[in-house]
Amino acid sequence: MRYVVNRMTLADIPRVIEIEKLAYSSTWPASSYRKELQDNPLAHYVVERDTQMSIQVGSDSPSDSGRRPFPLSLLARPQPQQPPEISNIVGFAGLWLMVDEAHITTIATHPDYRHRGLGELLLTSLFDIAYDIGARQVTLEVRVSNSVAQNLYHKYGFREQGVRRRYYSDNGEDALIMWTEDIMSNHYRERYFHLTQALAARLAAEEKDKGTDATSGTAQLA
Ligand SMILES: CC(C)(COP(=O)(O)OP(=O)(O)OC[C@H]1O[C@@H](n2cnc3c(N)ncnc32)[C@H](O)[C@@H]1OP(=O)(O)O)[C@@H](O)C(=O)NCCC(=O)NCCS
Repeated sequence: MRYVVNRMTLADIPRVIEIEKLAYSSTWPASSYRKELQDNPLAHYVVERDTQMSIQVGSDSPSDSGRRPFPLSLLARPQPQQPPEISNIVGFAGLWLMVDEAHITTIATHPDYRHRGLGELLLTSLFDIAYDIGARQVTLEVRVSNSVAQNLYHKYGFREQGVRRRYYSDNGEDALIMWTEDIMSNHYRERYFHLTQALAARLAAEEKDKGTDATSGTAQLA
């Protein structure tokens, strides 16, 4: 398996923040992630790793090498070098469980790793947690302009149920509030089963096309 999904740890936070900066226009400080991991019993966060990433010491991403000439490279990399098990993180996501509702708080993949099914892999990892902890519905907010994320959510049965006006403080944009149906229903479970089967086949096929020896694309949540 090339891509694996693990629980986020404190050591992962610097890399998560690097990806967050590339993915979002406004970001959380490291202290927010620390609080979430250490003090919030309702919070569940995961990171997605590329186990075949060829590590370039001090590099932000596999395609980063040579992107910025000296001395800008120094400015662009204030972080201390990260060990391989941290720098191979390519996505992250999280949710809160409130009563029987799972509220997705964040989900992002590194820009170099988009359109490969990895956002979907993260979303299914969150659904697996939601099932494990007994959630019946999953909800989230998404920018009205974020049609890419909305497409992903529609695929997994989220529907618009309302709008939070001027929800995003950086530009005053509205948020769509999206909800799934009851994820414990037979109808949804069947849909989810087919979606995860298709995702596993997609990830496995992509690996085969690349000539790697991956045998399955499903996530292993540790
Ligand atoms: C949203 C995000 C996580 C999707 O990640 P990704 O790894 O590219 O997604 P996947 O490759 O798994 O694609 C899953 C689905 O998303 C939708 N999608 C992905 N890229 C898309 C694009 N360029 N145009 C339209 N829909 C797209 C499709 O429904 C796709 O399913 P399909 O492949 O069957 O068409 C990623 O774009 C991201 O990190 N965005 C910035 C952060 C963000 O906006 N997070 C959501 C906050 S609510």
